[in-house]
Amino acid sequence: MTGQSAVLRALRKPRGTAPQGFGKTKRRDRWAAYPIVQGVLFTICATYLLVSGVIWEPLFHTGYEADGYLSPLFSPLILFPNMPSWLSPGLLILWIPIGFRATCYYYRKAYYRFYFADPPGCAVGEPTIHRRFALENAFPFILQNLHRYAMYLAFIPLFFLWIDVIRAFGNWDAAGVAHPRIGLGGVLFLVNTTLLTGYSLSCHSLRHVIGGRIDCFSCTRARRIRHTLWERLTDLNRNHMWWAWTSLVTVTLADLYVRLLVTGVLTDPAIRF
Ligand code: FES
Repeated sequence: MTGQSAVLRALRKPRGTAPQGFGKTKRRDRWAAYPIVQGVLFTICATYLLVSGVIWEPLFHTGYEADGYLSPLFSPLILFPNMPSWLSPGLLILWIPIGFRATCYYYRKAYYRFYFADPPGCAVGEPTIHRRFALENAFPFILQNLHRYAMYLAFIPLFFLWIDVIRAFGNWDAAGVAHPRIGLGGVLFLVNTTLLTGYSLSCHSLRHVIGGRIDCFSCTRARRIRHTLWERLTDLNRNHMWWAWTSLVTVTLADLYVRLLVTGVLTDPAIRF
C-alpha cells in the first residue's frame, strides 16, 4: 500500500453501526422531523439575514436605523470615507457572527444532518458516497477548528449590542439630550441581546477555556473561582441548542422590526417619560 492511499484510508469515515444505505434505520420514531423542521427554519433565517445584512442595502439604500434603533446586523456601525456604494456596512461586522455560528459545534451537527445527511440522524444510514469524504480532516471543513477564535471575536459585536440596548430605551434629540422611553423595539433588542449573550456564554469552547486542562480544581483560590465559573457555564451549556435557535430567530425579528420602522410599515409603540 502506498503512503498516499494509507492516508486516504485513514481519512475515510468509519462505517458506524447504522444500517448501510441512505435513510436505512431500525428506529421507529419520526427521526426525520427534526432535521426537516430545523433545516427549513435555518434556511429561512440565514437567507433573510444574508440578504438584509449584505445585499439589500447596496441595492436599495433603504436604511438600517430608525427611531434610534440600529439593526443588530449593522452594529457597531462601521462607515469610512469614500465607501463604495456596493459595500454594505453590515458585511464589515457580520463576518464575525457568521463565522461564530457556522463553526459552532451544535450548528455543525445540525447542518451536517439537514444539508448533507451526514448522517441524517443518530443510527440512520447515510449515502455511501460519504465514505469518500474527509470532512473536517481536510479543506474547507478543517476551518471549523477556528471556532475558538471566532468565539473570542464574537464578544466584540455583543458588547456593542448591549450599548444599543441602553440607547434603545432613550430617544436622543438633535441636541444630544436623551428622552427615556420603553418601546417595543427596546424590549425586542433587550430580549435579542440577552439570548445572544446566553448563546455566546453557553459555547462549548468557552466552557473549555474556563474549566479545561486543569487537573485540580480545589488547589488554589484562582482555580476554585474557575471551577465556580465553569459550573455556571455548564448550566448554560446544557441548553446550548435552545440558545442557538431562539437567538437566531430573535436577531432575525429584530432586524425585520427595524426594517419595518424604516419603511413606515410600523410605528414603534412606546411609553415616553
Ligand atoms: S459551540 Fe456553539 S457557539 Fe461555541
